[in-house]
Amino acid sequence: MTSSQPKRRITIRDLQKMKTRGQRITMLTAYDFPTAQLLDEAGVDVLLVGDSLGMVVQGHSTTIPVTLNHMIYHGEMVTRGSQRAFVLVDLPFPHGQLGVQDTLRAAAKLMKKTGCHGVKLEGGAAQADTIAALVDAGIPVMAHVGLRPQSVHALGGYVVQRNAERVLHDATTAQQAGAFSVLMECVPDAIAAEVTRQLTVPTIGIGAGPHCDGQVLVTNDLLGWNSGYLPKFVRQYAQLRQMAVDAVTQFKNDLQNGDFPGQAETFQE
Ligand code: KIV
Repeated sequence: MTSSQPKRRITIRDLQKMKTRGQRITMLTAYDFPTAQLLDEAGVDVLLVGDSLGMVVQGHSTTIPVTLNHMIYHGEMVTRGSQRAFVLVDLPFPHGQLGVQDTLRAAAKLMKKTGCHGVKLEGGAAQADTIAALVDAGIPVMAHVGLRPQSVHALGGYVVQRNAERVLHDATTAQQAGAFSVLMECVPDAIAAEVTRQLTVPTIGIGAGPHCDGQVLVTNDLLGWNSGYLPKFVRQYAQLRQMAVDAVTQFKNDLQNGDFPGQAETFQE
């Protein structure tokens, strides 16, 4: 514990300035306290408490089972663990799609209970009134267009979204409604580049090529912490899962060989 001053939080104004200066925005998912601490220490600008936690932490095959209470539970831990990053919490299915009043209530609850600084909402043009109402209520909104995982069944799977007109319309309408940023998922790079050129607010890409104003990945994918399928757009920077398996195997061996606990790990009289 130190008595040093808390760091100044990144705000939506800082993120906007980063776009203006051509400085890339880093965003990663966080679902708990220690992860939030380590991402903050590494200087990540935006921590996303993504409803991807349904797949990454809870072991579901989609994000659909995730509830508002799950998001609150994880969101609280992440805001507690970070001092500098802007913390964004996902509106889980079907909040965000049930009309203005429901979404407003859900987003306000997320802000109040977690202390987060904004919400992410899947959708664009169809959610324009909802985005505008949230922004009017003082809730910063990032719109999520392109592949919207909560609509995986309606989209026919986790597939690249190639309808340029639709992506552009969703993104520009979300910006007009007051979104402070637009996230594009699984969109060809030329479409993402055009959206980024046309929007004045920052764009964040995941599987949307290199021309967005920022990039987001699921931290567990980047660190090699989970087993299973990895999408094409992931780059793995570590193999933490294998390191953990090796460490636990070593612990078991030490125990069986009588090497653990040794003198150093034992209380004497
Ligand atoms: O839920 C999530 O983590 C997300 C990212 C994959 C963008 O929406």
